[in-house]
Amino acid sequence: MPDHSILITPSILAADLSHLQEEVDSIADAADWLQVDVMDGHFVPNLSFGAPVIKSLKTSLPLDIHLMVSNPADRVQEFLDLNVANITFHAEAVKKTKERKDLIAQIRAGGATAGIAINPETPIDTVGDVLDDLDLLLVMSVHPGFGGQGFIDHVLGQVQTARSAFPDLMIQMDGGIDDTTAPKCIKAGANNLVSGSFIFGASDRTMAIKSLLPS
Ligand code: DX5
Repeated sequence: MPDHSILITPSILAADLSHLQEEVDSIADAADWLQVDVMDGHFVPNLSFGAPVIKSLKTSLPLDIHLMVSNPADRVQEFLDLNVANITFHAEAVKKTKERKDLIAQIRAGGATAGIAINPETPIDTVGDVLDDLDLLLVMSVHPGFGGQGFIDHVLGQVQTARSAFPDLMIQMDGGIDDTTAPKCIKAGANNLVSGSFIFGASDRTMAIKSLLPS
């Protein structure tokens, strides 16, 4: 794993799923984390994959589970049982502060770091009740559900606001991140970039990952 302050997290949603192990192997040396987009076809219109697929993967990359599901509390344990590194749930799916705090506590007690995600239209202050409890804030730069979408610039202001208030928080961005949008994300204060189409669409994936980092 490379040593840099900005983490690059390829998303397997954009990988050739018929050769998933080879796809993961192709980015393993250059990537920092590996993101798994878990979609339930209800919170988002798409249906992706769950724990059985992840269980089949052989990788030393820290697994970052992005739960785009309506009932994340029902899904967390199956991923904790796989010793994943991070689990992020959506603020739009868990609205009550106590439920958010209980879920964060469960994730942490299970040995993973805990993150909360906000969609582009969700104001940052809607997660003010738990930002002190979190390990990671994911600011979506696309509407969740599909890879290959265009980057939504207005979310950069949310990232700046969060970074100003929480200098030590891991701030992750996800959606439409390539070598042109990555610098904007980093300048705004993000230090963990999720990228799917750009990385897995590249012939040289190591170069693609390096192109996301400050030169
Ligand atoms: C959206 C997904 C995507 C994926 C990366 O629900 O979360 O953001 O991880 O997508 P692209 O292809 O835009 O990098």
